[in-house]
Amino acid sequence: MTTASTAVQASENPGGPSASAAAARQVTKAYGSGETRVTALDAVDVDIQRGRFTAIMGPSGSGKSTLMHCLAGLDTVSEGRIWIGDTEITGLRDKQLTRLRRDKIGFIFQAFNLLPTLNALENITLPMDIAGRKADPAWLQQVVETVGLADRLKHRPTQLSGGQQQRVAVARALAARPEIIFGDEPTGNLDSRSGAEVLTFLRRSVDELAQTIVMVTHDPVAASYADRVLFLADGVIVDEMHGPTADSVLERMRRFDGKRTS
Ligand SMILES: Nc1ncnc2c1ncn2[C@@H]1O[C@H](COP(=O)(O)OP(=O)(O)O)[C@@H](O)[C@H]1O
Ligand SMILES: [Mg+2]
Repeated sequence: MTTASTAVQASENPGGPSASAAAARQVTKAYGSGETRVTALDAVDVDIQRGRFTAIMGPSGSGKSTLMHCLAGLDTVSEGRIWIGDTEITGLRDKQLTRLRRDKIGFIFQAFNLLPTLNALENITLPMDIAGRKADPAWLQQVVETVGLADRLKHRPTQLSGGQQQRVAVARALAARPEIIFGDEPTGNLDSRSGAEVLTFLRRSVDELAQTIVMVTHDPVAASYADRVLFLADGVIVDEMHGPTADSVLERMRRFDGKRTS
């Protein structure tokens, strides 16, 4: 890296290393005010590494979804700063933020959100069609093959299993080659077999397509597909784990449960 480019990146991303696909510095998010004020995130620092699969875990209400929504620019922060790649998103105007989300971020939600009247391939390319962009055919083919959907492209959502529908949703997120994909409980609506299908695909998209993925989950098995797990409790990142297994994650989660009163 040249000195010049270091200087440019330093000025654009003074808080976090630009090697990160996303970064948060001292991010606080509060809902409500006065007696009903809830601090969902409390001075969170986090770096999401490029080309890695990161899981966010923690008890219900610990701030997982809030952290994901703030990192993805779906929600504003009360204090602190967020970057997607080299671009600081805190302070962007709505229009710029919408464009950045469209161009750099892919989303997968618990509900697949496929359009029933379109076939799988049409669903995959829909966001790009709306944006007036042409999918790179070689990339699209690679995505479709990695998802294992090559022989299902003409099928409509109702003709696909839940796991296949979610794989279409993942392929849709990947098609535009986003800088980062965020998933909030993407396997939450799936049985364990379909969930494993989707998680295996997410893993392959990291290993084979160098995709960056951040996934919120409460399922230790799902988290075990990740490279790294961040543990949230009461809006604070209290721990992290590299190379997680379902057992090691479950063990860590039990320590939260023991402390909970509800
Ligand atoms: N829109 C909102 N208005 C008020 N409080 C909220 C809102 N969204 C989340 N919260 C609160 O913020 C905290 C964190 O919520 P959330 O991020 O959804 O947790 P998780 O995803 O870990 O279950 C909880 O106490 C929740 O009740
Ligand atoms: Mg949540």
